[in-house]
Amino acid sequence: MARIVATSHLPGDPARLLDGHEWIGPARGDDAWSRVRWLGELATADALVCLLSDRVDAEALAAGPSLRVVANYAVGHDNIDVAAATARGVAVANTPDVLVEASADFTFALLLAAARRLGEGERLVRAGAWAGWTPDLLLGADVGGQTLGIIGMGRIGRAVARRAHGFAMTVLYTRGAPPDGVAATAVTLDELLAQSDVVSVHCPLTAATHRLIDARALAAMKPGAILVNTARGAIVDDAALAEALERGHLGGAGLDVFVNEPAVDARLLAAPRLVLAPHLGSATTTARTRMAELCVNAVRDVLSGRRPANLINGDALAARGRA
Ligand code: GLV
Ligand code: GLV
Repeated sequence: MARIVATSHLPGDPARLLDGHEWIGPARGDDAWSRVRWLGELATADALVCLLSDRVDAEALAAGPSLRVVANYAVGHDNIDVAAATARGVAVANTPDVLVEASADFTFALLLAAARRLGEGERLVRAGAWAGWTPDLLLGADVGGQTLGIIGMGRIGRAVARRAHGFAMTVLYTRGAPPDGVAATAVTLDELLAQSDVVSVHCPLTAATHRLIDARALAAMKPGAILVNTARGAIVDDAALAEALERGHLGGAGLDVFVNEPAVDARLLAAPRLVLAPHLGSATTTARTRMAELCVNAVRDVLSGRRPANLINGDALAARGRA
């Protein structure tokens, strides 16, 4: 019987899918385990199911000498030292595809909320401060028919592009490939920044995309443009974004992700025209349940000697074969 350590309870009670294996982790309603707690449990674990907030680095991998698979309950896997896992023959899997539509929906929720100042409006009503309809109350920016720049045309970027098509938007993108049947133009990052009314970030966090949207990039955006980030916080320079909003250079921004979650930079909290969300991109019951199933499938596959569908490091299995 294999021992599977999960750092958190997951929707859909995935432990029931793991016939014959032992699932160890917090119960429904309990907090996710602290790093110290799950590191301790790894000593005799065959598999780890972790969250995007769990750092699976060389230290963590060394704490699990019999680990064979790490299933990350996320599509982004910047929290995992994949090279270190590969070197140890530990397979790493993620949860793509099943969260794409939910994440694209949420991108549009933030985009529309930022453009139409929904957060400010909601706060006004709740504060009892709404004095009635006036011609110039909380005027925002048009979205329909505008130009959307998608940084990173992967699966989520393509799902956002399909939605943008319904809004009669012109779609520009850097990297990747557009969806079938949706007109989109590949441009350089500088062209995208200069031409887009809305810029939406959909690339993974890597050394090359760390602070990709810095003060220079923000200054290159059109005056009044809107920035949306549902990818990873560290792709955007928080201080530079706060300043661009304070100066009124940007018309608004929507952030679902932050550098050091759950902390949010004080300057961002004080910045005008910024809509904030607590990393909810994939947070639908369906997506989160299916993500749990993908993690369980990956664990089951590796423990039975099969290649998991969403393996990130194909080399790991070869490394294990040599070991
Ligand atoms: C969420 O941010 C994910 O990467 O799945
Ligand atoms: C995620 O699945 C992406 O490719 O954007």
